[in-house]
Amino acid sequence: MHLPKAELHLHIEGTLEPELAFALAERNGVKLPHADTEELRRAYLFDDLQSFLDLYYALMAVLRTEEDFEELADAYLARAAQQGVRHAEIFFDPQAHTARGVPIATVIEGLARALDRGEERHGISTRLIMCFLRDETAESALATLADAKPHLHRIAAVGLDSAEVGHPPSKFREVYEEAAALGLRRVAHAGEEGPPAYIWEALDILGVERVDHGLRSMEDPELVERLVRDRVPLTLCPLSNVRLRTIDILEQHPLREMMAAGLLVTVNSDDPAYFGGYVGDTFHAVHEALGLDQEQLRELARNSFLAAFLDDDEERRARYLAEVDAHVF
Ligand code: HPA
Ligand code: ZN
Repeated sequence: MHLPKAELHLHIEGTLEPELAFALAERNGVKLPHADTEELRRAYLFDDLQSFLDLYYALMAVLRTEEDFEELADAYLARAAQQGVRHAEIFFDPQAHTARGVPIATVIEGLARALDRGEERHGISTRLIMCFLRDETAESALATLADAKPHLHRIAAVGLDSAEVGHPPSKFREVYEEAAALGLRRVAHAGEEGPPAYIWEALDILGVERVDHGLRSMEDPELVERLVRDRVPLTLCPLSNVRLRTIDILEQHPLREMMAAGLLVTVNSDDPAYFGGYVGDTFHAVHEALGLDQEQLRELARNSFLAAFLDDDEERRARYLAEVDAHVF
């Protein structure tokens, strides 16, 4: 779908398509436990978030050099451009790489090589969001933030991802305080598999400006009221919710109800190589499954630019919003 849009919930490691994984495995002499791309694709049947994360972290073994990270990000931008993406705020998981002996500089500078040329090559402006793995310790998150200090000019925000249940936002109070003091924006995954209480913590303890997923906010009317009042954007990922079996079928996704409740929701792809579609495909899927009409799709696209970290470039935001308004379906 070519409606102009921003993608605000996208894990760059989750854009690793099987073909690129095998090409990088060969180049780097890494042995993958799957015979070929077909066999790998057949492994993409997940029971829950953890079963996906196991494969997601295992496949990252093929990412070793700056060129690898550059190629990964450039391939994502090329695909995103074909689906109407004009601006992308991209998560990366430094601890998943440093734990394998890949320096954080390799990751950030490799990604930056592609992002710096994103506008010229693909017509996409970008921001980078550094995520902490919530199933690692708070000390490890603090060490990661310290490690990233020489590269902070490349990073717009910090985020929180990986296995949610049992790892509440409050565990990361200190590192979020430090990130804020360094001038970084703050987001966090909350309410994907975890309870509404985790969304409250993300808001009140971590001071997040956007909630990633926030799917379970609908279980708590007081929380919905708060999110509506403060215009806190939620970055929903409907195809991810189905693939990770948080909801059974797309037809049951609460997106429509969330829009009707006045929430500032956006639609995103999360890990498109694994979950069956990039963000344009996701817009198309919610149009089909939930019967959203063109004006509702336009509202989602407008929301994506309203929720973007473009406060330092309001002219650009206004330009993108005008593109949405002028779009002919
Ligand atoms: N949820 C939490 N952590 C993640 C995800 C997700 O969907 N994708 C990559 N890391
Ligand atoms: Zn995510």
